[in-house]
Amino acid sequence: AMILVINGPNLNMLGRREPEIYGRQTLEDILENLEALADEYNIRLQSFQSNAEFEIIERIHMAMDEGTDYIIINPAAFTHTSVAIRDALATVKIPFIEVHLSNIHQREPFRSHSYFSDLADGIIAGLGAKGYELALHAAADKIL
Ligand code: DQA
Repeated sequence: AMILVINGPNLNMLGRREPEIYGRQTLEDILENLEALADEYNIRLQSFQSNAEFEIIERIHMAMDEGTDYIIINPAAFTHTSVAIRDALATVKIPFIEVHLSNIHQREPFRSHSYFSDLADGIIAGLGAKGYELALHAAADKIL
């Protein structure tokens, strides 16, 4: 089984980026931890981070050819803007969980709307890095 973790723009800056909102762990820390967890499930974990919308779209297309079973995605700011990434997920029809470190409903009103939530199997927001772990447990449950 194979899971792809996608992180959108500015998440490469985790740890240094508004730590009071996004926490002190780097993306590397988070992914290292996820890989260990995936190992326990015998799941292959792939990860991808990009600040560019088209790269995320193309990575999602590639996932279809690779036989990816599940996607965990934090679209970051594209959550609130990208019909194109939403359409890519609808195109490949790979089930996914939407993750946000912060509680997007507790912040500026423009963060409350997501172009992804109605297509997602589930949404996790506001639980920090732990949200990715919870998503992996839930995804494992669905695909194993
Ligand atoms: C985020 C929330 C988004 O509103 C923001 O643009 C991000 C990160 C989160 O993980 O809390 O970049 O997706």
